[in-house]
Amino acid sequence: MCGIVGYIGKNEASPILIKGLQKLEYRGYDSAGIAVYNNGINVVKTKGRLVDLDEKVKSLGGVSGTMGIGHTRWATHGAPSDINSHPHTSMSGKITVVHNGIIENYLQLKADLEKEGYKFVSETDTEVVAHLFDFYYDGDMVDTLIKVIDKIRGSYALAVMCTEKPDEIVAVRKDSPMLIGLGDGENYIASDIPAVLEYTKDYYLLNDNEIVVLKRDGVTVLDMDKNEIKKDIYNVTWDISSAEKGGYDYFMLKEIMEQPKAIKDTIHPRIADGEIKLDDVKYTDDDIKNIGRIHIIACGSAYHAGIVGKYVIEDLARIPVEVDLASEFRYRNPILNKNDVCLIISQSGETADTLAALREAKRQGVRILSIVNVVGSSIARESDDVLYTWAGPEIAVATTKGYSTQVALMYLIGLKFGQVRGFVSDEKAKAMVSELDKIPEYIEKLLTLDKEIEGMAKEHASSENVFIIGRGIDYAASLEGSLKIKEISYIHSEAYAAGELKHGTISLIEEGTLVIAVATQDNLYEKLVSNVKEVKARGAYVIAIAKEGNTEIGEVADKVIYIPNTDDKLTASLSAIPMQLFAYHVAVERGCDIDKPRNLAKSVTVE
Ligand code: AGP
Ligand code: GLU
Repeated sequence: MCGIVGYIGKNEASPILIKGLQKLEYRGYDSAGIAVYNNGINVVKTKGRLVDLDEKVKSLGGVSGTMGIGHTRWATHGAPSDINSHPHTSMSGKITVVHNGIIENYLQLKADLEKEGYKFVSETDTEVVAHLFDFYYDGDMVDTLIKVIDKIRGSYALAVMCTEKPDEIVAVRKDSPMLIGLGDGENYIASDIPAVLEYTKDYYLLNDNEIVVLKRDGVTVLDMDKNEIKKDIYNVTWDISSAEKGGYDYFMLKEIMEQPKAIKDTIHPRIADGEIKLDDVKYTDDDIKNIGRIHIIACGSAYHAGIVGKYVIEDLARIPVEVDLASEFRYRNPILNKNDVCLIISQSGETADTLAALREAKRQGVRILSIVNVVGSSIARESDDVLYTWAGPEIAVATTKGYSTQVALMYLIGLKFGQVRGFVSDEKAKAMVSELDKIPEYIEKLLTLDKEIEGMAKEHASSENVFIIGRGIDYAASLEGSLKIKEISYIHSEAYAAGELKHGTISLIEEGTLVIAVATQDNLYEKLVSNVKEVKARGAYVIAIAKEGNTEIGEVADKVIYIPNTDDKLTASLSAIPMQLFAYHVAVERGCDIDKPRNLAKSVTVE
């Protein structure tokens, strides 16, 4: 899940490429590089961040030229190093490529090319493409690219330059994202829109195996038979400031603070006079009544939102819901029935495992409903119906508003389907919609606890282990709280069903072990109080998250963070906030890289 950029136009390419890569750095930041055409192709690349590449370019006195490609890497094959950085060049120096994805048959291709006398210098799979392109090159970039595509297997967003072609970049994608920014006398390639938004709001979205020829005076899109394809022009609906920090130290804090607005923007267009309108979804009442089972499929935090969805949808709509990790679903020969629905959840809409799971479900003829944040992303375009989370661009690797808007849509789906299927009365629906409407203001109230939670975080920033326990929806919420702590503070954290703790894991609780107990479910509250007593008896330090008014837990826990009193089905949106803030401040205290945590990237577009 790295980021690629390309530029051809009248201005110096180097600053455009580097600024574009900076906007894509959240997609991968092990190494970076650019290649610029100027009487030949000049490549500058380095292990490390964009700031290191920028310094290296400056130390060389800049790299001039008005056509180029660039890459910021998340290594899959070959450790982060200068030589494994992209762009990669063929042995002859004629061909230069950048690549997002995995060439799955690279070892065989490498062996074949070595027999042809090609010498490899890197450990990457990508280098195969540079040599293969060189091997087939006959003067026509498109013909050559088609021959290369025919040979390689795997996922790719590829951009290629040739020393013999000063006025043309060719590109193609399969399973990895790519868009084409459209300018006046200049055109762009990017993995994601923030890279080009400063220059244009108009762009093409490419489908798999659509070949692009980028020239100064225009962009041609071809199919694999070289037939020209007429592409729709998409226009960005938000401005560049949305993809900036806006005065916050980190994108993650900005995005935590944006959650009230993100939820408002996601819910309000779908509620009219207290009625839920899933307008973007072409399900008739009969379709909804005939749903046999819902299979929620996702990764990471989106998976956690799906688990909240299971509790909510099963309780309200009485539809059996299975929640699967996409990477497991696609290989376990899943049993799907024609009247099932696959509910795909993905913030980026580009996660390789989730996209592959969608395709497996589609292959079995099951209807696909997706919840996606990035308009026009691969998952969105391959779904039968899409409910967009209107969270705006999410840059921090650790999702917050992406997750909370996904959870908000779980509520809407549960309520709507429950109403249609006769399990939720209109009165109950109206009451819950009214509460749902208040979630943004409840979150605003919780965000005012930031300083108090920062204090708690500082106290526990040196913890080596954290356990987060809960039951029911609180257990689902615990999973997300735990991932936040792990991925940005690097502290080992484990979410546990509170009732399961005594079946083994409680042996890990010792003097001073930090336990966060999420206790917002009325029918399970007393059980949680008992679980808190159990871990306290073994020396744990307990921070509880409970509803305002539930003071008993304050008599057993060391600290309590109170959330506004709302319907039990909606509390996952509220308990997430203190856990997000806690994880954020612990990570700050530990000096971690909040927006770009080690080993991670924002969108996992490789398997
Ligand atoms: C969440 O903070 C992580 N960044 C990660 O678990 C993420 O949720 C997962 O990779 C799924 O991404 P998606 O929602 O874009 O598909
Ligand atoms: N597989 C390529 C490499 O390891 C690209 C990785 C990516 O897409 O992040 O360099």
